[in-house]
Amino acid sequence: MVSDKINRRLLTGDRPTGPLHLGHYFGSLKNRVKLQDEGYETFIIIADYQVITDRLDTSAIKENITNLMLDYLSVGLNSKKTTFFVQSMIPQLSELTQIFSMLVSTSRVGRNPTVKEEIKAMKLESNVSLGMFSYPVSQAADILLFLPGVVPVGEDQLPHIELTKEIARKFNTAYSEVFSIPEALLSATPRLMGLDGSQKMSKSRNNAIFLSDSTDEVRSKIKKAVTDSGSEIVYDKNNKPNVANLIDLYQLIAGKKVEEIVGLYAGKGYKEFKEGLGEEIVSFLKPIQEKRSKVTEKYALEVLRQGNKKALEVAQSTLRKVKVAMKMDYRL
Ligand code: TRP
Repeated sequence: MVSDKINRRLLTGDRPTGPLHLGHYFGSLKNRVKLQDEGYETFIIIADYQVITDRLDTSAIKENITNLMLDYLSVGLNSKKTTFFVQSMIPQLSELTQIFSMLVSTSRVGRNPTVKEEIKAMKLESNVSLGMFSYPVSQAADILLFLPGVVPVGEDQLPHIELTKEIARKFNTAYSEVFSIPEALLSATPRLMGLDGSQKMSKSRNNAIFLSDSTDEVRSKIKKAVTDSGSEIVYDKNNKPNVANLIDLYQLIAGKKVEEIVGLYAGKGYKEFKEGLGEEIVSFLKPIQEKRSKVTEKYALEVLRQGNKKALEVAQSTLRKVKVAMKMDYRL
């Protein structure tokens, strides 16, 4: 049985919707690299079908997949330890989703707070597709097909992991113990706020610094970052929330304590502080970008091809077990 020993297989993933930014780095990538280097057998799914839950435009997906691979490899995820693969290239995922859709009620699926928020944010209330409504069931297949022990995710994904565990238990009880019951692993870093100070960093809110931003882009974005009235560099979440937010970013980037940063800029103004922060970000991104410049697209796609191959083997093996358990492995 899977649960007898510690299951050191890890699965996580992303939607290929655009380049990765500092929020992704501190919220998940850094932790993935650490876990990979601690010896977790890592699987990363690029969830391309999940992209079209809230938009039908597919024109950028292929390019986004390539760029995602370049981002992954440039931060230190490594093809020897991590298997990267594309959701739509593993047909067993669709089959498993079909089976799982029978193990969960529509009312249960409708009670997912993350999906509700996404529907609201995209103003889809009057026209929610079945795929949008039920994508957490598909995500349960993304996870369970690979029999992982842990799933590192952000807080917004916890409802999906709960549903995943319920589906796994339901299948195991109805048929036989095929699935591991994976645990969510929350990364210790809170969500990074964007440069507008008001919301979390994200591409769609136009408040992000991308891992692939040039030095000039970084400098100009930081220059434009929202601050507060006054001119002193103080850490005061209530009265100077935007400056506090930038100090938080500084802290993460430079690995310095708040007091140290405030001390550095005592008697100085926002201009000097922002220049300092900008340069810290530039040097933080330097090794990542150096690595990126050495990785060719051809190599990145070859890594993905190999990953798909390996993922397909695991997928076939698990789906065979699923069908045997269901007595639907007809040999006609
Ligand atoms: N829903 C995740 C996100 O938007 C992406 C994702 C798809 C995922 N399948 C997954 C994450 C499986 C973890 C495990 O970020």
